[in-house]
Amino acid sequence: MAESNIFRRRRNIFLSHLGSYAAIIPAAELVTHHADCEYPFRQNSDFWYLTGFDEPNAVALFLPHKPKGEQYVLFVLPKESAAEVWTGFRWGTKGALDDFDVDLAHPLNELPSLLSNYLEGAEGIAFRVGKHPNLEPLILKIWSEHLQKLPRSGFVPFSMIAPCPILHDMRLRKDSFEIERMRIASKISAEAHELVREFARPGMNERDLQAQIEKCFLEKGARGPAYGSIVASGDNACVLHYTANNSQIRDGDLVLIDAGCSLNDYYNGDITRTFPVNGRFSGEQKALYEIILEAQKAAIECVRPGDNAENVHLTALRHLVEGLVDIGLLAGDVDSIIEQEAYAHLYMHRTGHWLGLDVHDVGAYRLGDYPLNLEPGMVLTVEPGIYISDRLAVPMGQPEIDERWKGIGIRIEDDVLVTKHSMEILSSHAAKNLVDLEK
Ligand code: GLY
Ligand code: MN
Ligand code: MN
Repeated sequence: MAESNIFRRRRNIFLSHLGSYAAIIPAAELVTHHADCEYPFRQNSDFWYLTGFDEPNAVALFLPHKPKGEQYVLFVLPKESAAEVWTGFRWGTKGALDDFDVDLAHPLNELPSLLSNYLEGAEGIAFRVGKHPNLEPLILKIWSEHLQKLPRSGFVPFSMIAPCPILHDMRLRKDSFEIERMRIASKISAEAHELVREFARPGMNERDLQAQIEKCFLEKGARGPAYGSIVASGDNACVLHYTANNSQIRDGDLVLIDAGCSLNDYYNGDITRTFPVNGRFSGEQKALYEIILEAQKAAIECVRPGDNAENVHLTALRHLVEGLVDIGLLAGDVDSIIEQEAYAHLYMHRTGHWLGLDVHDVGAYRLGDYPLNLEPGMVLTVEPGIYISDRLAVPMGQPEIDERWKGIGIRIEDDVLVTKHSMEILSSHAAKNLVDLEK
């Protein structure tokens, strides 16, 4: 399917689910880094998913209460040579009409005067309150004006709903185009992990490896890292969101690298590998690594239609706890340890999350009291780990930890697609078996 058809298909599904509600979906804005310098632009994923339009500040309207040919309206930054000299090319209204399949396009500064008319006749507004502080006052003002008119014009509720349940349910299930993009994002990420492991040597700095892996993302055509790359040696690996990446890597250290690329259309990889920088695991490192790998493989086996992400987590957790009891780092009955969360000083996060246009992608995990069933097209990470340090107190009744275990942090993370009958590991190009990690 041509790419423009993909966005059109999504818009049609979205419009059909909106009923007679008019949806307002804003693009992202530039974010200040410091003073008057901005971060590189990153489009809002909901906006991107529906428009494929990669400029800041635009606003898309979806108007199912209007006739065909007037249902998709885009407000965009106008073409303006003086501004484009500084910040680059803009499509403008003509480009939006010619290249983005919109029904009607306007310059952004006309939004305040035109929005009210476009909402006329809708049953209500679908807009995510609380996320768009610059636009929200205008939307609330126009909503209030419409409510003011209601007693004279009828008894429609004209309520405000969130578009997210519709959109995020759509984004949770990836179609064949998206799956192919996710395969590419994971493959590039995995190949970069392979290269950086080959490159790593004791005495290097963590940032040497960060530079190497991010260079590889760019060389392979990705936009860049999907999130702040974590390159953590030794005890740094016990800091879950470590991004300082500035320690020298000592002989005997494990290196934990949690890094993935983002493609130009924002699909992401999210992979963690942990390996011995000198090519040889110590006894303690190996014992822990084997427990985590076994837990991860067992959890991945649960990724299939009809199972659920909760069970993926619980399966990994049970294997981790059993393994930690076996080597004496936890003590007692496995069920009781899990129930009392007496493992949480060693494993303090969940085993995964949805993956897609956002790294921690949208979509529910539960429907009320019940975990959501996995379905073909869903993509999730499976990422158990163990982190042994003095940062968290050992819970009462659990054994104190011998010094020889401390400063070891290990996580293994893969990106897994639910297929018709089972699953596909999208990140399988990154080695994780012990024999492949030892030199
Ligand atoms: N890299 C972020 C995560 O694994 O969730
Ligand atoms: Mn992850
Ligand atoms: Mn990760």
